Amino acid sequence: MASLVSIKQLDVHTIEWLLQNAQSFIDYHGNAKKGYSVVHLFFEPSTRTHLSFQMAAQRLGMEILDFSIDQSSVNKGESVIDTLQTIDAIGVDLAVIRDGGDWPALLVNEKLNMSLVNAGSGTFEHPTQALLDALTMQQHFGSLSGLTVTIVGDIAHSRVARSNVYLLHKMGATVQFAGPEAYKTTHIENVEWVDFDEAVTQSDVIMMLRIQHERHAEHYEIADYHGRFGLNKARLNMMRKDAIILHPGPVNRNVEICDEAMADPRCKILTQVKNGVAVRMAVLDWCLQGGSDEKLVSA
Ligand code: CP
Repeated sequence: MASLVSIKQLDVHTIEWLLQNAQSFIDYHGNAKKGYSVVHLFFEPSTRTHLSFQMAAQRLGMEILDFSIDQSSVNKGESVIDTLQTIDAIGVDLAVIRDGGDWPALLVNEKLNMSLVNAGSGTFEHPTQALLDALTMQQHFGSLSGLTVTIVGDIAHSRVARSNVYLLHKMGATVQFAGPEAYKTTHIENVEWVDFDEAVTQSDVIMMLRIQHERHAEHYEIADYHGRFGLNKARLNMMRKDAIILHPGPVNRNVEICDEAMADPRCKILTQVKNGVAVRMAVLDWCLQGGSDEKLVSA
């Protein structure tokens, strides 16, 4: 069995296979992994990732173990690593994990029999989000190659931005960033920072990000964020007719994105959520089939 921790693990062929398999789950459904067990470990809040992984496992016929962090021995001080080793010893086949830290780095030298799937790790990566974003773009444009994708907002604290850059670069798309100076990072390479007002007229995809207040060292407000960096009514009107709007969610309406943009036919946010189930089915299936032989990848 294999684990998916980072987009860096996946070659172009594997990404294409995962997207194709996800599409086939949308078209034909599936019940392919009866007898395998999965546990969902969410150390951070989640709505769409947690529920869609549960839905994906159910649709694959997997056995879902009941586990709540609040009721677990994590509350008695057990670490993430010790918790994973305990679950592995119980004989669980696969753990889906969301955590605020870079747990993949801690696991590099650990030997686990079960597969792990990264459901969001700190500011490190969110690989299944990038895959479902890719599926949504591919469904609309037919191909990822040649697309211009502008990611806007709190880039410095965004695991979604990182995973998307890694995936989109592999697939031949151009990624550019826009947003406040305070949210710039040097940790993501080969991405140009652009003026949002110029980019909004030219981009195939506008991907808006939530400000990740919970990851900031100290709270501070950026004055008139919506006017300066949000997808507001004026910028919505400047977008190309064939462009699409993405957002990983959860959305803070009228901060990073206005109500009108949420209701616009170019907005594919709920399509992203829907695609999340199929992509996660494909990833669970891939891991349980053996995936690739790559070791865990850290930041
Ligand atoms: N996109 C995303 O990870 O959303 P949740 O936090 O609701 O899972």
